[in-house]
Amino acid sequence: MPIASSGRLPVCTSAGCAAKFFAPASHLSVELINLKLVRGQVADSGTTMTKKSYPLSKVYGLLEPGPVLLLTTFHDGVANVMTMSWQTMIEFEPPLIGCVISNRNHSFEMLKASKQCVINIPTAEIAEKVVGCGNTSGAKINKFEQFGLTQKPASLVTAPLIDECFASLECRVVDTGLVAKYGMFVIEVVKAWLDPAVKNPRTIHHQGHGNFMLAGERIKLKSAMK
Ligand SMILES: Cc1cc2nc3c(=O)[nH]c(=O)nc-3n(C[C@H](O)[C@H](O)[C@H](O)COP(=O)(O)O)c2cc1C
Repeated sequence: MPIASSGRLPVCTSAGCAAKFFAPASHLSVELINLKLVRGQVADSGTTMTKKSYPLSKVYGLLEPGPVLLLTTFHDGVANVMTMSWQTMIEFEPPLIGCVISNRNHSFEMLKASKQCVINIPTAEIAEKVVGCGNTSGAKINKFEQFGLTQKPASLVTAPLIDECFASLECRVVDTGLVAKYGMFVIEVVKAWLDPAVKNPRTIHHQGHGNFMLAGERIKLKSAMK
């Protein structure tokens, strides 16, 4: 509603705020202004949507925050892996990521103690292993053995890279200010690895309650976003 009525996206005025990149660019504003508000429905090129009330408990599935990841940790001589999908980018460079991790997970204590982790990005080919790591606890089993995931040493952190993932990001915890209230760890990527041979990786996206969407078709549009 505010976007359609004002034609502007929210602008952060504070210096150094990553949100400044979301400020309106001239060619984008034109498209926003062309949206018409019709009795609660947004009309764009003749397309209308008839919205109905939706349960609040299902909202998170609409806003899936990015690919499902495998977060590895290492503490007291033992490595663990956990499935994670509640993460968000906070800054471009150095890349900062906010990760919500429940204190009921074994990984929570491991990350809190070691202050290091690796974020591994899996694809559809190992989707069942990924969900398996999200349904079991490293406090009880060795998930690398159980699900056939291969550990490789990282260069700057003690947590392992997962060989079956096309990208792995070595991270350090840089802010725990929101951990007590929200379980949100702010981590900084200190080293990134990617297999360039993997073109158009089919990443896995969680929509809640066992529903997943796979990345597929890609389009390129003129965008002011970095
Ligand atoms: C698709 C999927 C996404 C998940 N995302 C998160 C998440 O973002 N944060 C979290 O705390 N747990 C998440 N979980 C649950 C943990 O992966 C799960 O509790 C796991 O058993 C924790 O393992 P651990 O006890 O070895 O740390 C997710 C599970 C699945 C299947």
